Amino acid sequence: MSRNDASAPVLLVGGTLADGSATAILMKHTAGLLADRGFAVEVMGATALELPMYHPDLHEHEAPDADALLAAFRRARAYIWFTPAYHYSISGLLKNALDYLELMGNDDPPYLAGKLVGLVAASSGPIAAIHAIGAMEQIVHALRGYVVPATAPICPIERAVDRKAGTVIDERTKLKLSQLVDEMRDALAR
Ligand SMILES: Cc1cc2nc3c(=O)[nH]c(=O)nc-3n(C[C@H](O)[C@H](O)[C@H](O)COP(=O)(O)O)c2cc1C
Repeated sequence: MSRNDASAPVLLVGGTLADGSATAILMKHTAGLLADRGFAVEVMGATALELPMYHPDLHEHEAPDADALLAAFRRARAYIWFTPAYHYSISGLLKNALDYLELMGNDDPPYLAGKLVGLVAASSGPIAAIHAIGAMEQIVHALRGYVVPATAPICPIERAVDRKAGTVIDERTKLKLSQLVDEMRDALAR
């Protein structure tokens, strides 16, 4: 499926298993922004990413747990990844799921070649989200994708969302997410 196939969805991946997950709230808000702009959207939240630890001896036909994940990555035209900053990097949940993309190494084209990836990270402190964005940038490059330049480090996350209401409440956060989505839309239109 080509990245210019307008019917293919943008895949949102990430979140955490926490009650009232802030990154899941950022995902939900971003899904709305994409839908407003006419994109088909697919969401793989934390529960869908709960996979057994990736084993390097796996071959795809022996990894049925990852079938849904791999199918979603293959049909998407672009991606947005969402992670909490854990110890200045990404969550183990997301990293383990992304490790399964090794099983796309023999695809033609391989991995995420030529596909756009938007990046969103949240942290309590002022710096960790930026490091988590950097960690994801390296992974995108390793998988031969392209990072959307308008990345969205969100901090402090506690001021950006209302966990109880499940909504984004900070205008700067809304603006960052809109800029990311608009930049992705413009790049996909080229
Ligand atoms: C294991 C763990 C490690 C964390 N490490 C950091 C950190 O290094 N710096 C920071 O600012 N916040 C850190 N946090 C706070 C999270 O980034 C923040 O609570 C998270 O973005 C909330 O996401 P969630 O509500 O979707 O779970 C950490 C949280 C946990 C649970």
